[in-house]
Amino acid sequence: ARLWLVVPAAGQGRRMGADRPKQYLPLGGRPVLARTLERLFAALPTSRLCLCLDPEDSYFDSSWVPFADWRRAPGGGERVDSVIAALAAIAPDAADDDLVLVHDVARPCVTVDDLVRLVAALAEDPVGGLLAAPVADTMKRDDGTGRVGATESREGLWHALTPQGFRFGLLRRALHEALSRGVRVTDEASAVEAVGQSPRLVAGRRDNLKITHPEDLALAELVLFAQQQAVQA
Ligand code: CTP
Ligand code: MG
Repeated sequence: ARLWLVVPAAGQGRRMGADRPKQYLPLGGRPVLARTLERLFAALPTSRLCLCLDPEDSYFDSSWVPFADWRRAPGGGERVDSVIAALAAIAPDAADDDLVLVHDVARPCVTVDDLVRLVAALAEDPVGGLLAAPVADTMKRDDGTGRVGATESREGLWHALTPQGFRFGLLRRALHEALSRGVRVTDEASAVEAVGQSPRLVAGRRDNLKITHPEDLALAELVLFAQQQAVQA
């Protein structure tokens, strides 16, 4: 079975509030999108890439794509629409049991080690799974008036990260069913869960953060720098 990478990069970055989509902001001198693709390529150089881009995007530069075999898909209104467009774009060449890893372009700090471990963990898995990190903070639920209603146990709670990897056939069916039944899917795993399958949790690093708000850019820069120092040490 082949390995495919789907990178949704068609978001507008509204919460970031910058002059351009966040995937094109500089991170240590290179665009976020270029950084993310660099990490994916370092870990999985022979995989095939499908990049979801806004058809009206004027920032993208194909010289940032290190993969030999890559294609683009038109981004849709929501992240899930972009991923579905990517699956349609790879469908002519993908087999049902090919593994498809979906990774947010806004997560440039994913490490080679986590990527390689995820692929190894999913190689023999009939369903698929995701990188996830145990919740570290104490969790409060509000009572609706701005005060604490309850303290929730964090036992067994995980942050869902990306990549999330599933068999092509299962993922396509799950996403289409979720859409047609009006299930709100914010990640691939929730669509797969909605069709009754249980994704594998693969423990990943907590510094695989998603650049979402303005302060995340500085954090991501520190994380990348610290990770590079660790590799060189
Ligand atoms: N994404 C996409 N197509 C969309 C919406 C999002 O490909 N219609 C991608 C983003 O580019 C990002 C990932 O999905 O890599 C996660 O989305 P998010 O962090 O929400 O990014 P944005 O949608 O760009 O940000 P915001 O929600 O603040 O506008
Ligand atoms: Mg969004």
